[in-house]
Amino acid sequence: MDSSLPTAQTNSPAGEAARRDTLTITDNRTGRSYEIPITHDTIRANDLRQIKVNSSDFGMMSYDPAFSNTASCVSRITYIDGDAGILRYRGYPIEELAEKSTYLETAYLLLRGELPSSAQLKEWQYHVTHHTFIHESIKKFLDGFHYDAHPMGMLTSTIAALSTFYPDAKHIFDATSRLKQTYRLIGKMPTIAAFSYRHTLGMPYVYPDNDLSYPGNFLNMLFRTSETRYRPNPTLEKALDVLFILHADHEQNCSANTIRGVGSSHVDPFSASAAAISALYGPLHGGANEEALRMLTEIGSIKKVPEFIQKVKAGEKKLMGFGHRIYKNYDPRARIIKQIAYEVFELMGKNPLLEIALECERIALEDDYFVKRKLYPNVDFYTGLIYQSMGFPTTMFPVLFAIPRMSGWVAQWEEMLLDSEQKIARPRQVYLGQQTRNYVPIEERG
Ligand code: CMC
Repeated sequence: MDSSLPTAQTNSPAGEAARRDTLTITDNRTGRSYEIPITHDTIRANDLRQIKVNSSDFGMMSYDPAFSNTASCVSRITYIDGDAGILRYRGYPIEELAEKSTYLETAYLLLRGELPSSAQLKEWQYHVTHHTFIHESIKKFLDGFHYDAHPMGMLTSTIAALSTFYPDAKHIFDATSRLKQTYRLIGKMPTIAAFSYRHTLGMPYVYPDNDLSYPGNFLNMLFRTSETRYRPNPTLEKALDVLFILHADHEQNCSANTIRGVGSSHVDPFSASAAAISALYGPLHGGANEEALRMLTEIGSIKKVPEFIQKVKAGEKKLMGFGHRIYKNYDPRARIIKQIAYEVFELMGKNPLLEIALECERIALEDDYFVKRKLYPNVDFYTGLIYQSMGFPTTMFPVLFAIPRMSGWVAQWEEMLLDSEQKIARPRQVYLGQQTRNYVPIEERG
């Protein structure tokens, strides 16, 4: 991929660069000035390397722990304007996709860049649906987990194990092989997730039903008991499909960065995806939905909300499901999710924790601590309430995030692989440890 970020540097006196798309840097250690090209409001970190005190110098680096101001790639998949609360997949606003698309169509859009024609969508759905079954040995593998194993741990390990079932997946530069692994990854995620859930309950596994939609089949594999044919409730099926659309991608977040980083070593996509699922598991990322629900349960009643908020402000607690690295405005996904919550509650009965969540939000949106730091509800604040009302245990919440995120991960992975500028990810460090010293024999150490 041509990123169209030029690399060209010249040393030139300060002042000459006026009204050009360049940045002039004066190194006060040497008095020298450097003119560095700016493209898309970005300079290349490598252009800083010419800034040296003397010729043996390594050159200037930029220091950016947690990559808070560093673009690691050029991407054409997802756009976020965090200040304006905008999220678009391939240019399409998330609100329109949530209203008009389906998860599988959105997954196609993320991966291919365009919405499919009806023939393309039919073919895509056919192939994903016909890759939902898992090898019978995987059932034995799942049986090895303890009854209370966290389903995210089971999902991570099982996705990693798929690389041993499909050794052809290592042909990452073969487009046909990549497509096959894409079908497998997107198709098998709900099956493995549902089997993990059934394992914890000690219930028999339910095989995929090819006549059902992607979310409908997932509900079938989770909740079917003695019915000969499971019929998902259309409201819950639709709610899950919209939640899947909202979670499908979110540009360079922790897990997307992980699949790009791990994938950059040219490992197979199952191993790289397992790493992404691990990244998502953390409570600061996709594990936040589970933590947000635990937090609301711990608060227990509306009366206790002010006391809890005080603890948050004192730094003793965190308001889980609030705050975002990129959004400094209401997360557009949270707005849609709040609406879905009411639709699900109408069917399943109101989740008693809703009042506590609304009170947390009301206080936080008025309180100076949250206003000053621009902390708003994120995608994880209300999802737990919906999942709980739908009958999911809290441990399944991050799994429900991981299933649809697989399409975003594969899109990010493939974009990285096909980008001719990308290489194995290998950041620099600022070394501040000991300089060379001689080994001290143990008897001489103080
Ligand atoms: N509750 C209380 N204070 C908070 C919160 C919160 N949830 N989030 C941020 N802050 C404070 C933080 O203490 C800091 O205050 P100060 O300036 O006084 O040190 C300030 O706000 C800036 O926060 P930060 O930690 O520097 O921001 P970040 O960009 O590094 O972290 C975050 C972003 C999402 C990790 C963080 O907001 C957080 O921990 N939120 C709770 C966990 C959560 O809901 N995660 C889900 C994120 S959305 C879905 C996803 O990514 O998967």
